[in-house]
Amino acid sequence: PSSAMGMGDGVREELGSLHGIPLYKSFVEGWPQVETFQARPDDLLVATYPKSGTTWLSEILDMIYHDGDVEKCRRDAIFNRVPFLEMKAHGVLSGVELLEKTPSPRLVKTHLPVRLLPTSFRDKNCKVIYMARNPKDVVISYYYFYQMAKIHPDPGTLGEFLEAFMAGKVAYGSWYEHVRGWWEKKQEKQLLYLFYEDMKKDPRREVQKILRFLGKEAPEGVVERILHHTSFQEMKKNPAANYETMPTALMDHSLSPFLRKGISGDWKNHFTVAQNERFDQHYREHMVGSDLCFQME
Ligand code: PPS
Repeated sequence: PSSAMGMGDGVREELGSLHGIPLYKSFVEGWPQVETFQARPDDLLVATYPKSGTTWLSEILDMIYHDGDVEKCRRDAIFNRVPFLEMKAHGVLSGVELLEKTPSPRLVKTHLPVRLLPTSFRDKNCKVIYMARNPKDVVISYYYFYQMAKIHPDPGTLGEFLEAFMAGKVAYGSWYEHVRGWWEKKQEKQLLYLFYEDMKKDPRREVQKILRFLGKEAPEGVVERILHHTSFQEMKKNPAANYETMPTALMDHSLSPFLRKGISGDWKNHFTVAQNERFDQHYREHMVGSDLCFQME
């Protein structure tokens, strides 16, 4: 599978390490600017483990911030409308540089575990929305993303990737530590903790939750437009939301589209019975003592 995954084109490389978590080497190089990032009090942080619904939540928030004006939300690609804090790559503005040019109120995307969040967000008491997704669907989504996004090392077979994921040896490290770390911050009023599966089941209720958290109100027609514009089908065909404007050298949608399936329970089409048993056992061990619960389908 190596050739099909674009090996040998000189882009893929092994991950570096940031304070113990595996991370892209270019992001590690950019860390000094991220660590000293100056948040503004009206910044809203969108925090997730990768592949947990970041782009979906980002599009919903940009729509809320623009009162459901679809045209305004087509003004730029989602990765420019909601800058990715710790992103650093050759030849493009880093996340921090882009954020410095972004007018307030800003939406800020991060995949950082809570212990690595720049202190400024806490000092400024910024609101945070965290979205979590069940790990079986995350790992499958991540496996396809490793294939299409060439910044990653070769993911190997699914069996190998499952082991790497369980061991926390994928970009951003342990899913378990990530979801648990942010969950422990939940008692703080400034954090709203959401689940991808709830958003799939009842997006209207979740959007209402977000509005309440932000202290905003929206007429029914606006909510309706937000829900329509941020549906999987609409986002999949929207060039401002589907990442198709990323250079093919970085993301190859012919290997797997960024908006791939957008469902819960796709892991069932991929896990063997043995892999599932092993994963469940590992999950139980690593979630012990936590009241955090995931819907696996
Ligand atoms: S990233 O790269 O970490 O920011 O990716 P992220 O956006 O967090 O996750 C990508 C997965 O989210 C799915 N997605 C959606 N699902 C349902 N509805 C909507 N509107 C939507 N938008 C994105 C996307 O398809 C990826 O999941 P999979 O399971 O791979 O399809």
